[in-house]
Amino acid sequence: MIMNVLITGATGFIGRRLKRALLNEPGVSLRLFVRNARKLSPSVISQVEVAEGDVFDVPSLRKAVEGIDVAYYLMHSMASRDFRERDRTSALNFRDACIDAGVKRIIYFGGLGVKETASPHLLSRIEVGELLSARPADIQTIWFRAGVVIGSGSASFEIIRHLVQKLPVMTTPKWVRTKTQPIAVDDVIAYLTRAKDLAVQGDLVVDVGAEVLSFGEMMLQTAEVMGLKRYLVPVPVLTPRLSSYWLVLVTPVPYAIASELIEGLKSETVMQNDHAARYFPDIRPMPLKEAVRRAIDEIVRDQVISRWCDSTEGAVCDINYQESSLNDAIYKFRKVKTFPPDRADKVFQSVLMIGGERGWFRYSILWEIRGLIDKLIGGYGLNRGRRHGTELRVGDSLDWWKVVDLKPGRRLLLQSQMKRPCCAWLEFLVEHDTLTVTAYFYPNGLLGRLYWYATLPAHYLVFEDLAAGILEKAATL
Ligand SMILES: NC(=O)c1ccc[n+]([C@@H]2O[C@H](COP(=O)([O-])OP(=O)(O)OC[C@H]3O[C@@H](n4cnc5c(N)ncnc54)[C@H](OP(=O)(O)O)[C@@H]3O)[C@@H](O)[C@H]2O)c1
Repeated sequence: MIMNVLITGATGFIGRRLKRALLNEPGVSLRLFVRNARKLSPSVISQVEVAEGDVFDVPSLRKAVEGIDVAYYLMHSMASRDFRERDRTSALNFRDACIDAGVKRIIYFGGLGVKETASPHLLSRIEVGELLSARPADIQTIWFRAGVVIGSGSASFEIIRHLVQKLPVMTTPKWVRTKTQPIAVDDVIAYLTRAKDLAVQGDLVVDVGAEVLSFGEMMLQTAEVMGLKRYLVPVPVLTPRLSSYWLVLVTPVPYAIASELIEGLKSETVMQNDHAARYFPDIRPMPLKEAVRRAIDEIVRDQVISRWCDSTEGAVCDINYQESSLNDAIYKFRKVKTFPPDRADKVFQSVLMIGGERGWFRYSILWEIRGLIDKLIGGYGLNRGRRHGTELRVGDSLDWWKVVDLKPGRRLLLQSQMKRPCCAWLEFLVEHDTLTVTAYFYPNGLLGRLYWYATLPAHYLVFEDLAAGILEKAATL
């Protein structure tokens, strides 16, 4: 018997990993519901059915769930201002489409915690679970609830890792003592994978997690795995707001995610039931130290599968750009360099290696200053880095950029996600013996135009250097 399985959120942190696990499962026919199929690699597209659509576009959703037996719900609208309303509509659209299509089981992955003390985001995740499971006579729902997920690329782990790496002594507020129950992302994927085959009738809520720890204990254990000695000094004066600003400065996450994490840590997030052990007795969640070891190993081996910043900011897919928007750009800045034609492959390889820990060549300091300003005004800044040292894929974050087009050997197009009064793109074209680096600006109002002229001298230096640096690097490959 073939089981027809749908994964929604298949381009997100959890969805990408689940997709990878299910691709290797015998007897599973996989369909992915995505907003932008270009975020999937050609090798994935050749092995699955892709249903392009949006959960708010009901006809596309209904088409995606047709003929499906088990559907995973791994989407959220957390980055939107009206996330609660959108999450509700999303859950209702999904549940009703599944019921009408005769889907047998919905599997949902939400957050641990109780309504009374939940942060607004967690409350919305709980509401989604309640809505999905509100018609038990028509469809079965298995609802997993987890606290902090530890894995390479998870926001919580990136926060802990950066804090531990950068600060030998940490002054810590009260919330670092709150109890939580972290779980390794590999264990989450094991539960989600098994849930599709679980022989159980009716709805089920399954709380998952390993040992109970405080955020402070998690930091100290992480330091131990990383071979670092760290000290926590509790201070009463660090308010949640101050703590959030601090996290923004020291770690890669923007204010919205930092404050959400701290908000979540104000109250305990520990398991409320023993259904994980009862229904999945052969999954023994690994302790935090093992989860950290695996996460670090993936980073060191450049094997990070998915990251918290893969997905979209805001209501619409951030890479849903139109090629024509480049023609609308008012200001363009172009740098052309030539090289021996037999080096074209190496030049493109070098293009794919820009940014992240390698930096931005001679004027890295200018990029860093601009990145810091961006962080201070609520943007991503430079320190999101990159997922992989030498590879990029559409949808990847690269410092403050997002990869929006990638034609192997020929073109890389980045869209700026920096807070600025304009839209901006950076394009690298490799043609025969020529590298063309073009910056496109589409300014917003007078401020945008002032911004463009004020930053022109810096852009002149930076883009000249960028093109030269790429060729220099290519010569060493
Ligand atoms: N990550 C964690 O640490 C964690 C912990 C506990 C529970 N969870 C739960 O796990 C689930 C997945 O979280 P995640 O961290 O994987 O999220 P994520 O990385 O932000 O991914 C969200 C996914 O949803 C898709 N999506 C967003 N809006 C959509 C729409 N309108 N229509 C269709 N697809 C849409 C995104 O597509 P695009 O790529 O197009 O943006 C993306 O694939 C959530 O329910 C979350 O509560 C996560």
